[in-house]
Amino acid sequence: MTDYQAITYAVAEHVATVTLNRPDVHNAMNEAMRRDLTRCFDAIAVDDGVKVVVVTGAGERAFSAGADIREFVEPLVPVRFREQRRRLDFRQAMDRCWQPIIAAVNGFALGGGLELALACDIRIAAAGATLGLTEVNLAIIPGGGGTQRLPRLVGRGKALELILTGARIPADEALRIGLVERVVPGGEAVKAATELARSMAAKAPVALRYAKEAVVKGLELPLADGLRLEGDLSTLLRTTEDRLEGAKAFLEKRAPRWTGR
Ligand code: COA
Repeated sequence: MTDYQAITYAVAEHVATVTLNRPDVHNAMNEAMRRDLTRCFDAIAVDDGVKVVVVTGAGERAFSAGADIREFVEPLVPVRFREQRRRLDFRQAMDRCWQPIIAAVNGFALGGGLELALACDIRIAAAGATLGLTEVNLAIIPGGGGTQRLPRLVGRGKALELILTGARIPADEALRIGLVERVVPGGEAVKAATELARSMAAKAPVALRYAKEAVVKGLELPLADGLRLEGDLSTLLRTTEDRLEGAKAFLEKRAPRWTGR
């Protein structure tokens, strides 16, 4: 998995780091990057060696400034645009990942860049980061999930305010409205995200997987169905070897040795 053009990929201690790698254009997303991200997340989704994923941007200034606006100058005819986006829909590949995905927002996260962060499970922003769905300034609207994911995170009114004005907001305001979960000092977003990822990766793998599934899938369901899903998944977890190991390790006052079974 080393032949990516527009991203870099590394795994250490079961934590994968996906880095958007076009720092000269603030990691704007071109076709090559969409292709790389789709392949990368498709591979992660079936890789049991990866337990948690961190996504960030190369360089000091940007997570991603969104779609590569140079590609807008010669737009595809709508049918071809739609088909191309469907083929390279990396956010759907992200949705297939059972692993928690953490965005380390290390600078500008605008347009499709913020939509990528919204497709992650948890967002950690560096102080000084700037976030916004700025598409309306270019006479388009968010097309990578932003109109759907933002209101689910910050509520209808705040999402409409941000989307209809194309406003850019600083990290502390993003924290206040619930758009990011944490703000850390400048330059420390990746470090904080990696530490958080490692603390998750130390948990029993199947518990991690089912906890995410219960929350993420449950949010798409009526409460009664969500509660049933939680009941089913928590019952399944009563059958694992790791559950016995967790209890024994606690009673024997030692660290658990998870097997994933
Ligand atoms: N697509 C293509 N190129 C982009 C880009 C994008 N989305 N965002 C930045 N770049 C390029 C700039 O054209 C510039 O290239 P150049 O050095 O060849 O001129 C380079 O990245 C640096 O950007 P610059 O604008 O000079 O940096 P800045 O610090 O003054 O401003 C931003 C940074 C992010 C505020 C500004 O680049 C911006 O507004 N970008 C567009 C963001 C946007 O609207 N995204 C939504 C797209 S739907």
